[in-house]
This record gives sequence, structure tokens and C-alpha cells, in this order.
Amino acid sequence: MAGEKWVRMVTAQTPTNIAVIKYWGKRDENLILPVNDSISVTLDPAHLCTTTTVAVSPSFDQDRMWLNGKEVSLAGARYQNCLREIRARACDVEDEEKGVKIAKKDWENLHVHIASYNNFPTAAGLASSAAGFACLVFSLAKLMNAKEDNSDLSAIARQGSGSACRSLFGGFVKWIMGEAKDGHDSRAVQLVDEKHWDELVIIIAVVSSRQKETSSTSGMQDSVNTSLLLEHRAKEIVPKRIVRMEEALKTKDFGSFTELTCADSNQFHATCLDTSPPIFYMNDTSHRLISCVEKWNRSEATPQVAYTFDAGPNAVLIARNRKAAAQLMQKLLFYFPPNSDADLDNYVIGDKSILKDAG
Ligand code: DP6
Repeated sequence: MAGEKWVRMVTAQTPTNIAVIKYWGKRDENLILPVNDSISVTLDPAHLCTTTTVAVSPSFDQDRMWLNGKEVSLAGARYQNCLREIRARACDVEDEEKGVKIAKKDWENLHVHIASYNNFPTAAGLASSAAGFACLVFSLAKLMNAKEDNSDLSAIARQGSGSACRSLFGGFVKWIMGEAKDGHDSRAVQLVDEKHWDELVIIIAVVSSRQKETSSTSGMQDSVNTSLLLEHRAKEIVPKRIVRMEEALKTKDFGSFTELTCADSNQFHATCLDTSPPIFYMNDTSHRLISCVEKWNRSEATPQVAYTFDAGPNAVLIARNRKAAAQLMQKLLFYFPPNSDADLDNYVIGDKSILKDAG
């Protein structure tokens, strides 16, 4: 291959996901194995997604990566684990159109360039690492002609960022914590696809697009080491909630879905407060949003909107249908008018969605 001049490129787009039953705490830091199962909804790629182009060429002399146009280091264990795992699964590639022929054994000596863009704020509690690592693993797998399915790829993406494993599927997705020491059974499965409950509308109220102060990774490490609530949550509470949530999704029971989603978000933030030093991800605006939704839900015969907050102050609001979503927008604009002290940075509206393969 020496002296050859060619570039092979693949582009893929992966949406982010938002957990309705949260992952918080690892039992293995290196392999990223969680202390409980979690369930999430995958968002519409038009609004919150990562687009990644990966390229390979004999003229590249090292692996390199650019995130939102700025070069970042690939030296960290998470990137290295993902690259190693995908390389180990690389197969022969024959692209007659471009005159590219790569034998399985050549991949050891070839280097990749990776360019990744988020169409939403990075590290502001909008699960940017989830979309990022899912897209990285997916696009590399296509580039290297790996034969693994999305479930196998999810176990690799997990090693980049835990929540990333759930972004390999659309609809509602469960990350099974698994039992094996090597983590091969800690992977994602699709519970229901994006068409199953398509009345739901997701609105993200961007309270702040600033980068969060405590990363999920270090926050959950502190919680595992210091929070008594976390063990109780992982062992006693979440397993029961997972069973009930799966049932609520299957039967499209919005009342039960809302009760579980809100309770789990609140318990996750209670666990953060129970951590030493305490972690505050939500702010006054987040708390006011919760009160507003709770009051509204209680004034109706059945709940209209579920809320959930990840490791940041931004609200993910899931409306039962388009009518509820329109009413919600009205309320948000009334109670949180733009350009006031309590304003929101932005709104993002979208539906649930499916992974798009642009490769
Ligand atoms: C609050 O997946 O970002 O969003 O595995 O250390 O990369 P690492 O953490 P990350 O944590 C996500 C935490 C959460 C809940 C969730 O998505 O389930």
C-alpha cells in the first residue's frame, strides 16, 4: 500500500438520548459498567445530534480528531478503548468505485482522522457525549466494514460514555446493566421503536447553555463513594421502576410514564444532593419549571407533561400529544418570557426519532 494515494470516508449522524430512568453510578470505571439498568428516549436528529465524518488514508501518520472544528486529544482511555475495539473487528474493504482495497491485516497500520460536530451546546447537560461516542463508534464500524450489529456496537460505545450505548437505537431504549465481569452483556436493547408512541412531543427548555461545573463522570464517582441513597436507589428502587416503565411504554400509559419519569429525575437530583460535596445541577429556573408542570398536571384529570433533568439545569419536557405541547409552549412563554430575568436561552422542539445512517 506504500505510496498509494486515496482517502476513504464515511459520515454518520446520531441523535442524543435522554434518560427517563437514570444511570448514575458505575461498578467498573474502566469498562463503564453501571450499578443499575436505565431507560431513555432517543431524540430527533434534526434538533440534537452529532454528525461525524471518519476518514482513513495511507498518507495519515497518526489518529487525529476535531470536535466542532477544534483539535482534541485522542489519548484518553475512552477514545483508545473505542478505537481498539473497533479496529479489532475491522474487515476487508473493497470499494471499486474509488479504487480502494484494504485487507483486514492492513488496518493495524492505518490511521484515521475524525471530524465531529454537535448541533447543540457541548457538555451543558444535553447528553453530548452520548451522541458523540455513539456516532464515533458507528461511523468507524462502517469505515472499517465491521460486521457487528447495533447491539454489539452499543457495548463498545458504552466504553466511550455509558449513556452513548443507548443512542445506537431509536425509540425507547434500555441499557441492561449486565452481570459479566468483562461487560459483554452490558449493552442496549430497543424496547419500542420510534413509531410506537408517536403522539409524544419533546420540548427542551434550555435554561442555560453554559458548560456544567461538575461532569457526570466525576459527579457519579462522588455519589458512589459518599451517597447512602445511591445504593438504596440502585438496588431497591430502580429495578421496580424499570419493570413498571417497560409496562407503561408497552401500553402507552402516559399517567404512569409521567409519575415514573418525574420521580426518577427528582430522585437522581436528590442523590446528587446526598453526595459529599453536594452537587447542584438544577437552578431556580429549573425548580420553577417543575412547580409549573406539577401544578398544571394536578389541575387536569390526567397528566399532560412529564419532566426530566439530566446533569444540568435544562428541562426535557415530554408532552402527551401536540395539543398539550402547544399549551406547554404557551405557559413557558407566559411564565418564562424571553428577555426577562427568568428567561430561557432557547427552546428545542422535536419528536422521538431513529438513528440515521448517512454512511
Ligand atoms: C444524568 O453517560 O455522561 O445523563 O459514563 O461517565 O460518560 P459517563 O457518564 P454519562 O452520564 C449520564 C448521566 C445522566 C443520566 C443518563 O443519561 O442515564
